[in-house]
Amino acid sequence: MSKYALIFLTSLLCSCAQMQSSHTKSASLFERIGGLPVLTIVVSETIDNASIDPKMKRSFDGVKLTTLKQSVVDQLCFLTGGGCVYEGETMKNSHRDLKITTAEFELFVATFRTSLNQHVGESEKNELLKILAPMKRDIVTD
Ligand code: HEM
Repeated sequence: MSKYALIFLTSLLCSCAQMQSSHTKSASLFERIGGLPVLTIVVSETIDNASIDPKMKRSFDGVKLTTLKQSVVDQLCFLTGGGCVYEGETMKNSHRDLKITTAEFELFVATFRTSLNQHVGESEKNELLKILAPMKRDIVTD
């Protein structure tokens, strides 16, 4: 192989590697999760399951689940870099009257995790759960 062919191939390889790494770096958590279709499924499954679970259902009595699901999707889309606008209440305000216990919060997160296990990758799951964890102090009142 000529010296020039070698230089050409090397520079081609380098630029491909650079393109790949910058592509990986720039993909938001939202994109890596699979965008709105996947977020919508995960939020829907989690809220459906939580609202029929004997240990969590009391909070969801009389709550319009379709509206709640949309609000949570907007919030998570915003927080993961999907560019949505979340117009709902703060976590403190929206959960204050519900008097959510640590046990209920942990069960809700476990329910969320079960759904994430089926729809997103391991690292995306952990990144999302890391975003939710600090909300505990605003949601739990016991
Ligand atoms: C990290 C965990 C949680 C997140 C990210 C979250 C997120 C949200 C969001 C975005 C809203 C809508 C606020 C609005 O539209 O103004 C909401 C409301 C609500 N959440 Fe949560 N939540 C979490 C934990 C929980 C838990 C543990 C329960 C109960 C077991 C719960 C039950 C509810 C209910 C019933 C509402 C509706 C309140 C109403 O309409 O009056 N949430 N949540």
